[in-house]
Amino acid sequence: MADSIRWGILGAGGIAHTVGPEIAATPGNQVVAVGARDLDRATALATKVGAPRSYGSYAELVADPDIDVVYIATTHGQHHEHALLTLRAGKPILVEKAFTLNAREAREVVAEARQRRLFCMEGMWMRMNPLIREAQQIAASGRIGDLVSVHADLSRRFEFDPTHRLYNLAAGGGTLLDLGVYPTTFAWLFLGRPDSVHTTGALAPTGSDASAAMQWGYHDGRFAQISCSALGPSPLTGVVAGTEGWISIGERVHRAPYITVREGDDEQVLRQTVTGTGFDHEIAEVARCLRAGEIESPLAPLDDTVAILEVLDEARAQVGVHYPSDQG
Ligand SMILES: NC(=O)c1ccc[n+]([C@@H]2O[C@H](COP(=O)([O-])OP(=O)(O)OC[C@H]3O[C@@H](n4cnc5c(N)ncnc54)[C@H](OP(=O)(O)O)[C@@H]3O)[C@@H](O)[C@H]2O)c1
Repeated sequence: MADSIRWGILGAGGIAHTVGPEIAATPGNQVVAVGARDLDRATALATKVGAPRSYGSYAELVADPDIDVVYIATTHGQHHEHALLTLRAGKPILVEKAFTLNAREAREVVAEARQRRLFCMEGMWMRMNPLIREAQQIAASGRIGDLVSVHADLSRRFEFDPTHRLYNLAAGGGTLLDLGVYPTTFAWLFLGRPDSVHTTGALAPTGSDASAAMQWGYHDGRFAQISCSALGPSPLTGVVAGTEGWISIGERVHRAPYITVREGDDEQVLRQTVTGTGFDHEIAEVARCLRAGEIESPLAPLDDTVAILEVLDEARAQVGVHYPSDQG
């Protein structure tokens, strides 16, 4: 492995234009190649991130021998295909959220990565946010007592457009996979897998879920309320409640700049400076794992990625959203 982790970017859409420059700006990392379905689009992003090579196909990108890891930045309807393409070319992968459309696809990608002993991680960057990790440690320490509940929402207005990734069923459209995967993961980090899931939602004219609200139940009485919507904005917050206090995550739960911890009558605000877009912690974790020869990040276990998609499969079925690939 070269001194610097050499990244390839697969797909040159919106998130690739956000995360690509962050990779180039994170010490010990560089983008060396971009592949897109269109060479001009690949070259435009390559120029932006200082990458010396660009390709007009994904196949050419994954065949490049001088790449240490490929960031899969296509729409989630394509992640399964592009993750397998890259793993079969012998390259480790960071796959944007949502990892795949459903748990079946996720299991296939994870099995391929493990069988080839190649690094694989879902780009669930919230898991690497130091303040979220601190909130987990505080909750686990008992400082807010026994956990009672989690409340989390991630909503943002997306104008209805049947071709947009949020509404286009063929591209994996739907708010549960696009936005809901964050509050779902957030609740999972504190409470783990629920014993029951009840979901209500509203469908867009394309049949994708425009809003969804889940109620999770646990045999011991704990519960979580998780919601997401593409119909309007929300403060994007999360609350973990215990018998002796609570932790509230400040605006933008996936990149929270502060958390408030309430223990009895004491209240403390913990802050961090979010540098750039906030993706630097995720990029650093991928680089750390690759240098250490780890094929999975302990911060984003692949078994969790699959299990969370199992819960989202169940929630999606409850609101009546089905993707062709659900059939296998
Ligand atoms: N981590 C985050 O905070 C965050 C934020 C936004 C989005 N995302 C995730 O990132 C992924 C991409 O989102 P985006 O906003 O970047 O979407 P986007 O702007 O539509 O770009 C997606 C890219 O996917 C590629 N693609 C390949 N096959 C495709 C197909 N059949 N249909 C549509 N696109 C296809 C295209 O790449 P080419 O350039 O090769 O044509 C396109 O540029 C999604 O999974 C989304 O959930 C994550």
